[in-house]
Formats: sequence, structure tokens, C-alpha cells
Amino acid sequence: MKLWGGRFEKATDSMVDDFHSSITFDKRLARQDITGSIAHATMLGEAGIIPAEDAQKIVEGLKGILADVEAGKIEFSLEAEDIHMNVETILIERIGEAGKRLHTGRSRNDQVALDGRIYVKEAIFQTKDLLKDLMNTLVSIAKEHLHTVMPGYTHLQRAQPITLSHHVMAWFQMLKRDYERLTDAYVRADVMPLGSGALAGTTYPLNRERVAELLGFRAISENSLDGVADRDFMLEYISAASISMMHLSRMCEELILWSSSEFHFVEMDDGFATGSSIMPQKKNPDVAELIRGKVGRVYGDLMGLLTAMKGLPLAYNKDMQEDKEALFDAHDTWTKCLIVMDGMIKTLTFRKDVMEQAAGGGFTNATDVADYLVKKGMPFREAHAVSGKVVLYCVKAEKAILELTLEELKEFSDMFEADVYEAASLLACVNLRKVPGGPAPEAVQASIDSAERFLKSAE
Ligand code: ARG
Repeated sequence: MKLWGGRFEKATDSMVDDFHSSITFDKRLARQDITGSIAHATMLGEAGIIPAEDAQKIVEGLKGILADVEAGKIEFSLEAEDIHMNVETILIERIGEAGKRLHTGRSRNDQVALDGRIYVKEAIFQTKDLLKDLMNTLVSIAKEHLHTVMPGYTHLQRAQPITLSHHVMAWFQMLKRDYERLTDAYVRADVMPLGSGALAGTTYPLNRERVAELLGFRAISENSLDGVADRDFMLEYISAASISMMHLSRMCEELILWSSSEFHFVEMDDGFATGSSIMPQKKNPDVAELIRGKVGRVYGDLMGLLTAMKGLPLAYNKDMQEDKEALFDAHDTWTKCLIVMDGMIKTLTFRKDVMEQAAGGGFTNATDVADYLVKKGMPFREAHAVSGKVVLYCVKAEKAILELTLEELKEFSDMFEADVYEAASLLACVNLRKVPGGPAPEAVQASIDSAERFLKSAE
């Protein structure tokens, strides 16, 4: 008979057992569930709500079940529906009468909310560590390439020269925000819901603060309806995952472009690329493509759960059982992608020569030619037009700007002097952009220093 079978005259249809049971996926919460139950039983015993010796037996019994779960010795049953009732059923089988007192003052509704919160808190710690690994990798690449000049792009057209270091530190900033989003989400996940009961709390004098303390929560939930109906903490994790996956995808997109023969800025390590079954010459950036592709499923997880939640009246509704697979999938996908991404980026070979060559093409110094004229006294809008005309002339003559003679340049403005060749050189273009946040090596060095301080404080 089901743990809730008292009111029923007939067994559940096997089709329904199969349909509504969640044990196939929520068995992943076994450790969190048992840990929560140990804290609940401990408090029940301490508060004299159940006999101390029963509490003792329950705690011992639960510890035994946890050890067996971890050793893979437990077969969960579909009949027992979910992880909560599976654990309780096994406990009663093992320790008898005392086991029947565990669920005093508790509902599966506050229990599942608790398990989810413990899971999310652990997932946040783990994900932050992985983000940190990847950020450390980026900083070490940035340190090596402070002077590696490359083109910066807008509209995927060469725009202005920057350095590889500057580009990689832009990626760092994206990941740093992902990290901070998790720090922020943790505060709201760190709230203990037990004591909410099914929806209306309980008449037992539970010591909720004690349970929070035993489980390492900073606070207890302040409304029993919200305590069981809230899934924001999962949604926040999955939205942080979605935003971060979007970042990883953009990084991957750049690496895919850069590894094409058209760019050839990077060479992927053989260990992180794959071949073609038909075209012998191919070396494909599959890993980067797969990360880019997996963003879709994480967005799907977010949309799925947001949609499942949007029409639910307070408090618990069974729709909410749909939360777990979305959470697990987003967590698995995000963490796996972070690990593989780190491996891929660590083993990249950057083609400095090709990057530098590309930075010199495409008139990336046209803005600096205009700025040169501005420094000689011409208003910027006018200087922009002069530089534009120089570019048009160069496009037709198939020359770079600095390949023109001074005489040719003077045709466009007599403000041009011999010092333009120095002022609009590739190195000057980069080195003079030393505004904080800019690509000049000294500015990037400052951002690297700040990144290192951040990573140190995040240890
Ligand atoms: N398996 C359920 C879930 O995942 C646990 C809570 C069930 N509560 C209930 N009243 N049916 O959401």
C-alpha cells in the first residue's frame, strides 16, 4: 500500500504509477533528502516532539540508507513514487515503528523544496569553481599576449587594432559577471523552507532555526505558502546558466571563425578537434560547435520551467515536479561545457603572425588618421571625411594608407606631415589607446591586475 493509501479503496492504475512517479530522476536528490531528514529528526527529538530514542534510531537508520545509496546497493521502487517516499518506506522497513515518526510536522511539499535548495546551493559552489578555472586560464593567456596585435571587429568587419590580451580579457569580464550572478543567487537559495508543511505550517512546535543551523542555511522562509510554492532559486540558477551559456557560445563562435582557413588566427589542438568520415583534410571544431549548440537546451530548460510555473495558483501543484529535470539538465550541461571549454582553450595555439598581419589590413588605422588631423586642429567630423576619402583612394589604388607618399596625403589635407607615419602606425594605434579599459598594454595590464585580485578574493 502507498504511504498515503489510507483514503483510497483501489490501487493506482499502473499507467498512472508510471506517469506521475518521479523516482527515475529525483533519486538524484537522495543525499540531499536524507540529509534534510536527519536534521528534521534530530530537531524533533531535541524538541521532544518525538521520543529521543526514536529520533536516534531514525538518524542511525537514515545514515545506513545513505551509505547504501552511495554504495549503489539500493533499488528504488516506482510504486513508492518519489525519493521522499522511497527513503521513508525503506526506513520503516529497516527500523520499524520509530521510522513512522519521521514525517511528523512535515510534508513532501516542504521536503522537496528543501532538497532543491540544498541541491542548488551545492551546484552553485561547483559551478563557481569551474568558472574560476576558466577565468584563470583566460588570465594566463592574456598575460602572454599583451603585445599580440590583432584586429578588433564590429559587424565582423575589421574595425580597429586591439591585442589578443584585450580580447581575452573581454571574455574574462563576461565570465566574471556569471560568477557574480551565482554569488547573488546563492543568497536567495540559502533559505530553509521546512516547517512550511504542506502549505499552512504545522501545529507542532518545530524549532525551524535549529534545522536551518544543522543544515547550514542562513535564514528560514517567512511564509509557509511561499515556502512550498517558490522555485525562483531554481529559475535563478537556470537563468544564470542560460546567460553564461550564451557567453560560452559567443566565445565558441569566435574560435570557430578564428580556426577557419579564412581567419587562421588559432589552431585547435588535435585532442579537441575531430575529422571527417569522407574529407581527409578536415579538422573540425566540433567541441566549440557542440557548446554553441547546447545553449539551446539550457534555454529550453529555462523556458520550460518558467512556463510550468507561470499559471500556478499557490501553493504546491504537481506541475512543479517538472522543475527537477530542467534544473539537472541545465546544471549538467553548463558544468560539462565549462570543463570542456577550459580544456579546449588551454590547448589553443594562437597564430600571432597571422593576427598581426590581419590587424594591418582593412584600414584599421583610419580612425587614427582622423584623430591625427584632429590633434593638428581639424574638427573631428571634417577629419572623418578626409580620412574616408583617403581610404576610398587607397581602395582604388590597392594600397594601405601609410603606403601613400606624403605628397599624395597632402592632396587630401595640407595638415598631413611626416609624423603621420608614426602616429597612424599599427603599434601607435594600440599603444595610444591607454584610456582605462582600452587595449594599450598598460591599460590591459591594469585590468589583468584587477582580475587577479578578484580571483584571489574569490578563493
Ligand atoms: N515528487 C514530488 C515533486 O517532485 C514531491 C512533492 C509531492 N507532493 C505532493 N503533494 N504530491 O514535486
